[in-house]
Amino acid sequence: MSLRIPWAEKYRPKRLNEIIGNRRAALELYRWVLQWTKGIPDKKAALLYGPPGTGKTTAVYAVANELGYEVIEMNASDLRRAQDIDRVIARAVSVGSLFGAKGRIILLDEIDGMSGTEDRGGLSEILRVIEVTRVPIVMTANDPWDPKYRPLRDVSVLIRFNRVNKNIVTKILQNICMKEGIKADLSALRLIAELSEGDVRSAINDLQAIAEGRKVVTVEDVKALIAKRYREYDAFTVLKLLFSSRTSEQARAVLSQSSLDYNDLKEWIHENLPYQYSDPEELAEAYDALAKADVYLGRIVKSQDWGLLSYAIDMMTAGVAMARRHPYHFVKYKFPSRMLILSKTKEVRQIRDRVLERIARKAHISKRGAATEYLPFLRVIFRANPKMAAGIAKWLELNEEMIEYVAGDKSIAKKIVEFIKPQAKTRRRRTQRTLF
Ligand SMILES: Nc1ncnc2c1ncn2[C@@H]1O[C@H](COP(=O)(O)OP(=O)(O)OP(=O)(O)O)[C@@H](O)[C@H]1O
Ligand SMILES: [Mg+2]
Repeated sequence: MSLRIPWAEKYRPKRLNEIIGNRRAALELYRWVLQWTKGIPDKKAALLYGPPGTGKTTAVYAVANELGYEVIEMNASDLRRAQDIDRVIARAVSVGSLFGAKGRIILLDEIDGMSGTEDRGGLSEILRVIEVTRVPIVMTANDPWDPKYRPLRDVSVLIRFNRVNKNIVTKILQNICMKEGIKADLSALRLIAELSEGDVRSAINDLQAIAEGRKVVTVEDVKALIAKRYREYDAFTVLKLLFSSRTSEQARAVLSQSSLDYNDLKEWIHENLPYQYSDPEELAEAYDALAKADVYLGRIVKSQDWGLLSYAIDMMTAGVAMARRHPYHFVKYKFPSRMLILSKTKEVRQIRDRVLERIARKAHISKRGAATEYLPFLRVIFRANPKMAAGIAKWLELNEEMIEYVAGDKSIAKKIVEFIKPQAKTRRRRTQRTLF
């Protein structure tokens, strides 16, 4: 499963004439890049902007393919390091190309992905790159209207990408179904297109989620996906109502208004309590209530005494909500990791197996030995020392997924990967690897 190619990548248009949504915008970019063949134009940068999944990045690569150009892609974290930028510029203006490309485009993708203090440095770096460049610079952004991007807008040609029309999205989906040998109801594809709100990537992702491995797709299949999403959405709303309720009656009412069942609610609360309550006393009290609810639920399972259910529910709603002493504040709730793990165990077990294989091979022990004698210690090291972990991961030839498995935590895994980065980063997308 984890090895599958996202259809959005597999079917990303490679040439201009394959782009059917936002074609006008793509052609505008093409003409602007062509201008460079006649001399350096007034505006040395183009800023492609618009909602996600509307073809901005796709257009850049399609234009480059059309002209036989090479795309040199940089991301926000490269921009933080001024020396990298110097190297890119030096490389982009130097003559000759490793791949015999006829020209180059520098792509600064998703410039509005930069956040916090990083972007102030980043922005001025971009401006400097634009000032000195002798090759076209293309930037993409979802929302370029923040005042801080004003200097960038001033030096750029602005090219707007719109949400892609529903009929066109439907056509793109039909095309994919044809190539995948899937018989899909037109109404099913229309519904997916509608849901996507003009975001082609999300439409294709939805189609893949529903249709992969099947021969037939119906409206009912699409509706099932919507229902599942709705339940997840519902959980966020329920938590917000629960944690913000002022009276125990309000808190109790929350569950009855939702499609969530009490077991799921328990998981959701369990996962999110520490984000919602930071005061230790609030936390202790809330966990106490949740623990009592859990005990009741356990008894119900054993004794089948459903009369206890209302106590359990009281505990996990009113009990948890009434622990709050400070005003409610907004937090971004997380999907319960336990539920994620349960739904993913098969995948996880496969990853674990591959990790153990690598350890076994390198350390000359059995896989079982790797599991009992190496893995627990590796996990400790991975959590304590990302740099050392990076070294080990490299030696064991672990990929990102495996690193995450060993570390048992996404953000720690990210840190470790950062240490291995230099090689990993340039492999993003179809960026031609460049040897700086
Ligand atoms: N106009 C389009 N025509 C055909 N396919 C498209 C179009 N726009 C997007 N797609 C499909 O959606 C995927 C994502 O598009 P792309 O990466 O270009 O989006 P983007 O505008 O760069 O989004 P983001 O702002 O999130 O970076 C592509 O791989 C392609 O499969
Ligand atoms: Mg993009």
